[in-house]
Amino acid sequence: MGLNVVMMGPPGAGKGTQAARFARQRGVPKISTGDMLRDGIRDGNSVALEAKALMDMGQLVDDRTMIAIVQERLSRSDTAHGFVLDGFPRTVSQAEALDRLVASHGNGPLVIVNVTVPEDELVRRLATRRICESCGTTADPVVPGAAGCPVCGGTLVQRIDDDARVVLERLRVYEESTRPVLEYYRSRPAFRAVNGAQSPECVAQELESVIEQASAVPASFGRSQSRESE
Ligand code: AP5
Ligand code: MG
Repeated sequence: MGLNVVMMGPPGAGKGTQAARFARQRGVPKISTGDMLRDGIRDGNSVALEAKALMDMGQLVDDRTMIAIVQERLSRSDTAHGFVLDGFPRTVSQAEALDRLVASHGNGPLVIVNVTVPEDELVRRLATRRICESCGTTADPVVPGAAGCPVCGGTLVQRIDDDARVVLERLRVYEESTRPVLEYYRSRPAFRAVNGAQSPECVAQELESVIEQASAVPASFGRSQSRESE
């Protein structure tokens, strides 16, 4: 059985930070749809370039495109022992499609982790985040005059969608389209929440522990017995 983790949470909750750490530790791929789109834009991929205008405005890319991207990624052999999804699913249609993909993938159920952080902290984090314009690495904290990207030395820039007005729109879109996905998952025995408003190390520890517990729950355990409130 593989370990298939879905990281849920609003923009800036730390999904990418924690997904990268957990995936590295467990030797499974991190599948971040936002990173895939941004990499595609850098590489001149036509689908990603078409999505760029929506991303820059804080809107979601259409379900059909996103499901196709994830379907292709999950078909690769490196997902045989599991994966960590970051940024997908973001709509109930995407969550339904993921259930179908996982059923045909056949390597085990999903563990869903919702990372919770108060909104004022999300806004603060996104205002200060910088990413490398060459390789996309998130480089924090921002030290004025700091050298470039710790990975490739590239220039650090603000994500276009981290502009204050776009962040508010992303939070609105999250409430409208992605919060219902939590309701879709909430009654599952392998649904958990972690407090994302702690140091990254403490979040990682809590995440490890809830994933450990959740993956020990038999898939057949009563669907109505939710373990966490959010
Ligand atoms: P995406 O890239 O997925 O953006 P997002 O969900 O808005 O989330 P972020 O990447 O902003 O936040 P995060 O939770 O990963 O936090 P991070 O770890 O970086 O999507 C971008 C766009 O692509 C979407 O708006 C949409 O247009 C499109 N898209 C992508 N997937 C899609 C889909 N499935 N369907 C439709 N459209 C899709 O952390 C944030 C900051 O906080 C960093 O600076 C970090 O260093 C810092 N930080 C992290 N943890 C902590 C901590 N514990 N304490 C203090 N600081 C912390
Ligand atoms: Mg991210």
